[in-house]
Amino acid sequence: MSEILYSQQNEKPTSGVAVRRLAYSDLPAVIAVERRSFPTPWSLAMFVLELSKPSGICLAASEGDDLLGYVICSRYDQVWHLMNIAVAPDHRRRGVAWSLMTRLVEEARGVLPFTLEVRVSNRKAIDMYERFGFRSAGVRPRYYHDNGEDALIMWLD
Ligand SMILES: CC(C)(COP(=O)(O)OP(=O)(O)OC[C@H]1O[C@@H](n2cnc3c(N)ncnc32)[C@H](O)[C@@H]1OP(=O)(O)O)[C@@H](O)C(=O)NCCC(=O)NCCS
Repeated sequence: MSEILYSQQNEKPTSGVAVRRLAYSDLPAVIAVERRSFPTPWSLAMFVLELSKPSGICLAASEGDDLLGYVICSRYDQVWHLMNIAVAPDHRRRGVAWSLMTRLVEEARGVLPFTLEVRVSNRKAIDMYERFGFRSAGVRPRYYHDNGEDALIMWLD
């Protein structure tokens, strides 16, 4: 388990927060955060499927016994697809997501780009991705079935 300290450029401490591989035993806590984070949360089966892929990178941020957040990333042929990231509402704006993203990019170590889709209304997440270096590359119209919202497609090269 390794400790990630918040980068100087962000000037927010995440002392006490550890980033490590997500385990099946984390899934009950993951589901609890997921349900508080999304209007259409992933099912347990979706997390199990992602965890079972040997090429994927699934990380947890924890503090003591508490799971603060997670990121799920799948490897496709020539691209990393960031599938899901969430932080427990009580622990947001502490740099937890930034620590997860930083570790994800370290673990992916390579030349392949990252891509993701995000709801066009999700300004918080878009701000974070832009600060992290992601750039917008178009829209997928009516991508989200629950409300017909468009997805912004973002890339990090
Ligand atoms: C998006 C999310 C993961 C960010 O997690 P977080 O741990 O709070 O993010 P961080 O503290 O690491 O913030 C990193 C940067 O992201 C941006 N950001 C994070 N929360 C923000 C907010 N509420 N408003 C505006 N910008 C925000 C900022 O640029 C921030 O840096 P700053 O605090 O120095 O300004 C979190 O808000 C969340 O879980 N949201 C619900 C789930 C979700 O929408 N996931 C993304 C799906 S694509």
